[in-house]
Amino acid sequence: MTTMESLIGLVNRIQRACTVLGDHGGAEGALPTLWEALPSVAVVGGQSSGKSSVLESIVGRDFLPRGSGIVTRRPLVLQLHKTEEGQPEYAEFLHLPKRKFTDFSLVRKEIQDETDRLTGKTKQISPVPIHLSIYSPFVVNLTLIDLPGLTKVAVEGQPDSIVQDIENMVRTYVEKPNSIILAISPANQDIATSDAIKLAREVDPTGERTFGVLTKLDLMDKGTNALDVLEGRSYKLQQPWVGIVNRSQADINKNVDMIVARRKEREYFANSPDYSHLASKMGSEYLAKLLSRHLESVIRARIPSISSLITKTIDELESEMDHLGRPIALDAGAQLYTILELCRAFDKIFKEHLEGGRPGGDR
Ligand code: GDP
Ligand code: NA
Ligand code: MG
Repeated sequence: MTTMESLIGLVNRIQRACTVLGDHGGAEGALPTLWEALPSVAVVGGQSSGKSSVLESIVGRDFLPRGSGIVTRRPLVLQLHKTEEGQPEYAEFLHLPKRKFTDFSLVRKEIQDETDRLTGKTKQISPVPIHLSIYSPFVVNLTLIDLPGLTKVAVEGQPDSIVQDIENMVRTYVEKPNSIILAISPANQDIATSDAIKLAREVDPTGERTFGVLTKLDLMDKGTNALDVLEGRSYKLQQPWVGIVNRSQADINKNVDMIVARRKEREYFANSPDYSHLASKMGSEYLAKLLSRHLESVIRARIPSISSLITKTIDELESEMDHLGRPIALDAGAQLYTILELCRAFDKIFKEHLEGGRPGGDR
């Protein structure tokens, strides 16, 4: 791993440990500030625009409930932790800390069950997030948040307030300046009517933290293409637009797996008369790289301030530890201890690097 990968990995683990502690660290002081300083990627868009599918492609695993109608009914905070090569892949929920999931279809089932636990088997939503971590040599270090889709009308079984409730919920995630917005719009609808772009424009008017993602390119009317959007003429963002071809519902029903889906997506762009000139900058694998590179540059730019926050956190935690005495006996104490150790590790790598004369790490 590069130094940046190690630092981002530690940032990820600190974020997770703060979450375990509850309420973003709960206490006053440096910890909550530290949590807020760490970036994450929120996925927004209309219902069935392909949000969950895009997330799965980024992870390279099938594990999310997907389909027509309102499927995602609670925020899912998904942390990807890159591990050393040869390590086994597994997933872990915050609400089931002792269980390691190696079968990803069981992860999907647990997300569904845990959603139903709070909302019942209804079409209701809940703002209480589900926290899931995936440990794998094949992922990039990222925190991604899957959110319920924006809608225009309530359906049978939903209160009329649901349209506004969903928007408010999504807004709390995307209005934070540390949030990177993955704005998902389907190519078979007019971009001018995109819920994702509408909300992104409100909270990020300069478009510096919004990534435009265009799904369902395969479903556009014959004879039309999305070049105006993909080349930034329809709606200009500071980050490039990325076109995506996810699995169709028929593919999902036929259990087309991720490897095959990614290959088909690559072939789609390579062989398309409209898009082949853009092929190297399209698709979910490219999007994953683009996001992790962006995250890296955001963290790199913030490393001095994150580092000083971490030094402050270490000081605060050390004096808290002194008060607690033998903290390992206490759950919260053990968690604080974990954060302290992670912060020390971050501090060590960072300082070693400063001494090496390359602040911010190598490439
Ligand atoms: P979400 O509601 O925004 O999370 O959307 P989902 O990821 O659940 O996708 C909704 C439906 O659209 C599913 O049936 C997907 O198979 C389908 N879908 C998503 N993206 C694409 C795409 O790029 N092409 C095609 N053909 N279908 C897609
Ligand atoms: Na859906
Ligand atoms: Mg979804």
